[in-house]
Amino acid sequence: MAQTDEDDPLSWARDYTPILAAYQAEYGETTPLDGYTIAFASHLETKSGVAIETLHEAGADVLFAPSEPQSTHGPVVDALDAREGITAFAWEGMTDDEFDNAQHELLEEEPDFILDDGCELIAKVHAEHPDVAANVIGGGEQTTAGITRLEAMEAEDVLQFPVYGVNDTPMKHFFDNVHGTGESSLTNIAITSNSIIAGKDIVVCGYGYCGRGIANKARELGGKTIVTEVDPRKALQAHMNGHRVMDMDEAAEAGDLFISATGNRDVIRAEHFERMDDGVILANSGHFDVELDLDGLEELAEKTTTPKEGVTRYHMPDGRRLNLLAEGRLVNLTGPYSQGHPAEVMDTTFAMMFVAAYDMLVDDPELEPGLYNIPDRLDREVASMKLETLGLSTEKMIESQRAYGEEWEHPDSSF
Ligand code: NAI
Repeated sequence: MAQTDEDDPLSWARDYTPILAAYQAEYGETTPLDGYTIAFASHLETKSGVAIETLHEAGADVLFAPSEPQSTHGPVVDALDAREGITAFAWEGMTDDEFDNAQHELLEEEPDFILDDGCELIAKVHAEHPDVAANVIGGGEQTTAGITRLEAMEAEDVLQFPVYGVNDTPMKHFFDNVHGTGESSLTNIAITSNSIIAGKDIVVCGYGYCGRGIANKARELGGKTIVTEVDPRKALQAHMNGHRVMDMDEAAEAGDLFISATGNRDVIRAEHFERMDDGVILANSGHFDVELDLDGLEELAEKTTTPKEGVTRYHMPDGRRLNLLAEGRLVNLTGPYSQGHPAEVMDTTFAMMFVAAYDMLVDDPELEPGLYNIPDRLDREVASMKLETLGLSTEKMIESQRAYGEEWEHPDSSF
């Protein structure tokens, strides 16, 4: 088991990831993943570091690469790469080209299993390393944007191996997307801009899991929230939850702070930038840096300046200044002060990623190529472990309750 000391960049995160610690203790003894090489792509910081060492403790050789060029923490990469059986294809401050090349170099090492974030490695292995893809046993995908790409691959019938859609399991999206993204996005926006949430008109684009977390938490901090949506049911849900609902044209004129979390592209574009007030703040929490049309913003501006680290100010010819955080990349992971999600949340996300690898490699459900949900019993097991680590207990159903759920005539009912 890895040592915890002051020089160890993972020690703090390890204290807040008790499920991963339990896996390390249990599987460090039995090493069920011995003989397998697992590729791991993620934002490379302390919590993903603990996930990588957990796979390694369980016996796997681990090859890891970033899922975003700007979110890598150098000390974490160096500490992991120094261990035998763990290889980094990453360093802090990579360019987009270096990021791309490193992922190809990793795939040339022919991993048996791929744990992915944004479908970066899985898409590349299919498109450019078909011989490697042919021998991959399976994969797991951690985020919504990656599931969207996998669904497109499945629709085209090109997937060569089975993939668990880890994002779609309740123990991932109810906690990571809602609470993790919600808290860490607002925290990093506040720190990067050194401005207050309370009293601001805050436009949240998208009311899915992430947008819901951001909007609800912003309102709890005193923000006056506005939601934009393309799905009428989500828009209605936002309305019933007490947010103002508008189209983007109207919201552009009303907002002080804009946060996009749609998984889509060109959500805020030139016609919207033209309507915004002087001094607005723009941020993105979606996986790719295409939610804000940055080329459009660049074309409108007569110059850009950097008034503060992590802030790019676009000066409009009419004197308005629009302030973009973290270059439009994930604001909770790539800003100068960003550390990503709280460790307690990533404990469950990475537990589900671990379970995905364990189930396919060790229990071997013999799945055909395709995109699959994680079996519900595994999701429940992780939920129970998390509750146990928190010292919380649940009710156990008694026999009459179990039987009540199975009968339809309800003979004892008085109406
Ligand atoms: P989701 O699918 O639950 O929600 C996305 C919502 O955006 C949907 O309700 C959809 O109708 C809406 N939408 C799509 N196009 C829109 C547009 N043009 N205008 C307004 N609304 C629009 O997805 P989820 O889980 O909320 O993820 C959203 C994004 O956040 C994805 O890219 C995902 O990968 C990313 N993500 C980021 C994290 C982070 O750490 N920042 C963590 C987890 C997910």
